[in-house]
Amino acid sequence: MDWGMKNRISKIIRPEDNRCVMLAVDHGYFLGPTERLEVPAITIKPILQYADSLMITRGILRTSVNPNTSVPIVLRVSGGTSITGDDLSNESITTSVRDAIALNATCLAISIFVGSKYEHQTLVSLAKLVDDCQRYGIPVLAVTAVGKEMVRDARYLSLACRISAELGAHIVKTYYCENFEKVVEGCPVPIIIAGGKKMSKEIDVFQLTYDAIDHGASGVDMGRNIWQSDYPVAMIKAIRAIVHNNSNVCEANDVFLKEKEKEKERNKSTKSN
Ligand code: R5P
Repeated sequence: MDWGMKNRISKIIRPEDNRCVMLAVDHGYFLGPTERLEVPAITIKPILQYADSLMITRGILRTSVNPNTSVPIVLRVSGGTSITGDDLSNESITTSVRDAIALNATCLAISIFVGSKYEHQTLVSLAKLVDDCQRYGIPVLAVTAVGKEMVRDARYLSLACRISAELGAHIVKTYYCENFEKVVEGCPVPIIIAGGKKMSKEIDVFQLTYDAIDHGASGVDMGRNIWQSDYPVAMIKAIRAIVHNNSNVCEANDVFLKEKEKEKERNKSTKSN
């Protein structure tokens, strides 16, 4: 692997422990102003410093993130559908590699929809993106999106993750499932997991993260379970504890509770000022 490629991957998957906490804020690309991401700059600012990398679209990066940040950018470059359309899998490339380079992106992210009507289109887009990025030493993150009609089980996710790696993805984002170790076993590149919809109990998010790491995930690409929380700083710090400090669920919950009190105090003093 070329030096540039290795160097960029090391910014995403930390070489100290081969783990990663990627903060996902790209949801608006098809969901619009999602709850608690209505004003991205406000959502992102307090938690950005605790993320190893930030997954985002170019529009929100340019308008809502301070360019002085040292947090590496994982730029989502696929899209073209919305929640109101009839088929979310009909995604294409929406941002050129040239613009991604102009934005100093460290890694590019693209969704694939294995088993959907647009399987071929999205897989060929992934392969083409890998070709284009290889030239500049830029890694590609394949996002294994799951259509409503698909079952998120180890059989399906193994298929989607393996195909991503076969087509040249350097990192794969998928979902945690039963027998997750099978998914990891069949995929020769690092796998990170999405958090999914907001869960009502923090402890369940910590359990999901712990189980994923325990079964071989290299980290998380997490959004809603962090920034839809009333205490996003406490959440991301607790997730970090599991991913980077090998904390168990109980220890992560202790981190959360301690940080939550601090966050409450900070919020109070911000309101009174
Ligand atoms: C989907 O909109 C994106 O790929 C998200 O970045 C991904 O699903 C992770 O976010 P969450 O943890 O909210 O599922």
